[in-house]
Amino acid sequence: MNLSINSQLVAADIEGSTTLLELLRETLGLTGTKRACDIGECGACTVLVDGRPVYACLTLAHACAGQAVRTIEGLGAPGAPDALQDAFVAEDAAQCGFCTPGQLMAATALLAENADPSDADVVAALSGNLCRCGTYPKIVRAVRRAAATLRTQTHG
Ligand code: FES
Ligand code: FES
Repeated sequence: MNLSINSQLVAADIEGSTTLLELLRETLGLTGTKRACDIGECGACTVLVDGRPVYACLTLAHACAGQAVRTIEGLGAPGAPDALQDAFVAEDAAQCGFCTPGQLMAATALLAENADPSDADVVAALSGNLCRCGTYPKIVRAVRRAAATLRTQTHG
């Protein structure tokens, strides 16, 4: 099956039962996407498929044939973080950091649809992403900070 991952065409010869999470982490070595519960409860494995946030642990890789998958590796680079990554650092929004890639991907989907989310909008959009460290208030502040930065960049 063929799909695009972070704008690169990937051809994968995999079993029908392979999840998108297994394809990313085990076949392709893209370990930025985390496995925690593996049963669709925590959001650590959140990636974007054609722009929509999905739990990669619950998504069959074959269901993504022909689609565009975006993972944390496609968000920014170490020397060039994107606005959300910058804001998470500025707001100290990661403690252990295990949930952070999933939070960032869910937030990316939110900001693509809503350039000026309220606190409630952020909480709702990230409600499927659990943080055992309880950094929720900082995560909300970080997402709104990134939104403000992006609005400034867009409107000068
Ligand atoms: Fe997929 Fe928890 S690892 S939802
Ligand atoms: Fe530790 Fe969220 S920062 S789980």
